[in-house]
Amino acid sequence: MKLVHTSVMKEEVLQFLAPPAGKSLLIDCTVGEGGHSEAFLQSFPDLRVVGVDADPTILQLARSRLRDFGDRFQGIEGWFDEFFSRYPLNERPDRVLFDLGVSSYHYERSGRGFSFLRDEPLDMRLGKTEGRTAMEIVNTAPLDELSVCFSRFGEERFAKRIARAIVEARVQTPIRTSKELADLIWDAVPAKYRYGRIHPATRCFQALRIVVNTELERLERGLEGAFNLLKVGGRIGVISFHSLEDRIVKHFFRKKGNISMKDTNMPIPKTEHKKIALPVTRKPIRPREEEVQNNPPSRSAKFRVIEKISEEG
Ligand SMILES: C[S@@+](CC[C@H](N)C(=O)[O-])C[C@H]1O[C@@H](n2cnc3c(N)ncnc32)[C@H](O)[C@@H]1O
Repeated sequence: MKLVHTSVMKEEVLQFLAPPAGKSLLIDCTVGEGGHSEAFLQSFPDLRVVGVDADPTILQLARSRLRDFGDRFQGIEGWFDEFFSRYPLNERPDRVLFDLGVSSYHYERSGRGFSFLRDEPLDMRLGKTEGRTAMEIVNTAPLDELSVCFSRFGEERFAKRIARAIVEARVQTPIRTSKELADLIWDAVPAKYRYGRIHPATRCFQALRIVVNTELERLERGLEGAFNLLKVGGRIGVISFHSLEDRIVKHFFRKKGNISMKDTNMPIPKTEHKKIALPVTRKPIRPREEEVQNNPPSRSAKFRVIEKISEEG
């Protein structure tokens, strides 16, 4: 079994999410190939880890990588928001980790069209059988839906132009592969834009992946579900890779840090602001220069952590 993903900010994650002394539970909501989980299991002998992933193929890689830890590791297939809404465990977590997005495995080995540098069927689903594929979206969505998708979820400035090119091209022949789509985008954008810092298809591929897997809605629900189940004194850490994700995390953390509640113990109930969480990282932690050099995909990562200090309500 060949592992291809390098875990991001491993040391910082271990430091800020170090579990309390004694027996404790970490939920790794995006276990992937299991790199972060392995580091936790090696560093903290009393810790148990439950690793969740929507992709059964990559989850299988994590299970075999972590086999030697016996019942200290349990892999569960599913979306993390659904995992929390139907929480299957009888113990609440002390630590929760989200390492968002997809793994290098998805770009390099899944064969599902995540990479614009490969020629693979345009699928992009993590959960392998449910929902619309990227191919279905690209070949059937109306012009406006495509354009909104690229501008909202890819923050692509040539969204409309690219959407128009797709709609014109698909009348002739359906767009079936990642390479066909990448070439089409390349031709659709102004020549000047083709040789920038990133490939011109980067943002549209990100947008399609987000839409196919309803990533942002799942993140909002997943954070809420994780926080509700977390023990008091527990911590949630999130590694995000683009501004849309980070915005959701930042707002969520802020909301929990400054929540308005009714104090019903007072003779005349009054509303006051009560914090139910404290930021552990005031500013997001960024990977060190050396890490970015050794693992370029880490360059956009931001790591934020909060600690729950009381139950809500
Ligand atoms: C960046 S990788 C995680 C890498 C992992 N931390 C490691 O060190 O090997 C993200 C993983 O999360 C999974 N994923 C993304 N969104 C998910 C969601 N909403 N629910 C469950 N799994 C998700 C992907 O399938 C992918 O395997």
